Amino acid sequence: MILIKLGGSIITNKEKPLSARRKTIDNLAKSLKKIQEPIVIVHGGGSYGHYWSVKYDMHTKERKYDLRGVAIVKNSMIELNKIILDSFLKNKLNPYCLPPTDFMTGNKPITKKVKEIERIAKSGLIPVTFGDALWYGQNKTFILSGDKIMTYLAKILKPKLCIFALNEDGVYSDLKSKKLIHELKGERPSISENKMDVTGGMTRKIEEASKISKMGMNVFFVNGNKPERIVKAVKNRKFEGTMFRGK
Ligand code: IPE
Repeated sequence: MILIKLGGSIITNKEKPLSARRKTIDNLAKSLKKIQEPIVIVHGGGSYGHYWSVKYDMHTKERKYDLRGVAIVKNSMIELNKIILDSFLKNKLNPYCLPPTDFMTGNKPITKKVKEIERIAKSGLIPVTFGDALWYGQNKTFILSGDKIMTYLAKILKPKLCIFALNEDGVYSDLKSKKLIHELKGERPSISENKMDVTGGMTRKIEEASKISKMGMNVFFVNGNKPERIVKAVKNRKFEGTMFRGK
């Protein structure tokens, strides 16, 4: 099984509120069609969920956020999710929409439900989930990032490979020269970024990728604008991006 995160920076235009990059999503779907093994998709919020989370000052910490914000963030994620599902359908994939409320209780994944995701993927359907605003309890809510979902799913499902499709070639050791780090083994790269968003941008992704690779799985950061790189990586042909080697 392959676990793939479609980052908000690749599926939306982060500079422009509520704008999906439909052509890019279509191209990603076309490439995913070439993968001959079970896949699970997680997608981010980009200029949908993040845009509203910022507006309503909502974060990953469990708090009593503005309920209007919770409703609006959730609604915007459904809207973006629908665009992804429509693109998958159009490109002859069979997506199976799974909002995170289907397998999360508070801020914890429900193991039994997560294991079911694997069975769904093995049937040939493609489970599609996403970062979202979630109910925590005692009138508190929080923003669950798709990156965190990747770690939860990886821990339970032990995929062969975890892929983060980004709007960059991978992790750069230096942002100015865009010098790409091809491989990381356990160590944390010192990167010079960071444009922050509510769930922590690239820093969060690297943090989750390190966690997953420490659990023994390979994690691959790839440019989603070149989706054939995803196919090549899955087919073990060539890794053009940053590989976090699982130990
Ligand atoms: C964010 O998910 C979800 C919301 C803000 C509701 P992510 O944190 O995974 O989104 P991206 O990939 O960074 O845009």
